[in-house]
Amino acid sequence: MRALDPSENEVAMDWGLANRMARMFSPGSQNSVMLAVDHGYFMGPTRRLENPRATIAPLLPHADALALTRGILRTCVPPSTRTPIVLRVSGGVTVLQEDLSDEDITVSIEDAVRLNVSAVALSVFVGSPHEHSSLVHLSELVDQGEGAGMPVLAITAVGKELEKRDARYLALACRVSAELGAHMVKTYYCDDFEKVVEGCPVPIVVAGGPRLDSDQAALELAHNAIALGAKGIDMGRNIWQSDYPVAMLKALRSIVHEQATVGEAMDILNEEKARPPRATVA
Ligand code: R5P
Repeated sequence: MRALDPSENEVAMDWGLANRMARMFSPGSQNSVMLAVDHGYFMGPTRRLENPRATIAPLLPHADALALTRGILRTCVPPSTRTPIVLRVSGGVTVLQEDLSDEDITVSIEDAVRLNVSAVALSVFVGSPHEHSSLVHLSELVDQGEGAGMPVLAITAVGKELEKRDARYLALACRVSAELGAHMVKTYYCDDFEKVVEGCPVPIVVAGGPRLDSDQAALELAHNAIALGAKGIDMGRNIWQSDYPVAMLKALRSIVHEQATVGEAMDILNEEKARPPRATVA
């Protein structure tokens, strides 16, 4: 099996659901650059996301989709935005707890529709104490999503599950999510990533994880993931914790949409760094 182009899946989807999927993936490359700013829902005011409005504003025009919670959407994103929204709808636990897997569904499908979002996202905690409930939540959300024409993104290997970031575990988590009906899966890059892609029949987007040693390392991660079949990225900290977040996003776009090499993406990054800084929007 291989990850299908999102458009290839349209035959199996209701028009509304297919339309929402198509909003998030470029008609040219069929890939997506999603910007993740949902970390506060369990991490609180994370470094360089203390003021979400200020972090989001300069990045929003360069993202194919914005992943966040409804509280930050309603308070920090202008309703005039054309950027598709991926709404996190799971939560209920914070970093103060030992077990991060005890999540519930925190947003109704009616509110997701009312917010006019393009997808809903929840964490699945395969191999954790709350594996069962998170997988049941996924299945229930898929039922609701199919009814409302709303794609569901399953987020695998989050929190403490990050320690298990190998191909065997991630392939299992992604495949289980797809089997239960997720329309897209977010996971992490790993050695033998092609095995994760091969076993997952829905599009995979990769998260970046905690800030890497350099911007180049994050570009390499994205490049390797796309080369091995990911349909995009859903990245946060390696963009907005960079000293040059807009430049990073533009460099990542070149990789995801134009098959740029890491060297070419670094050139874009360095050109953008050399530009005079623009005033930030508070
Ligand atoms: C984490 O819980 C969220 O799902 C993030 O959206 C995800 O981890 C991507 O962000 P980052 O690239 O910072 O890992």
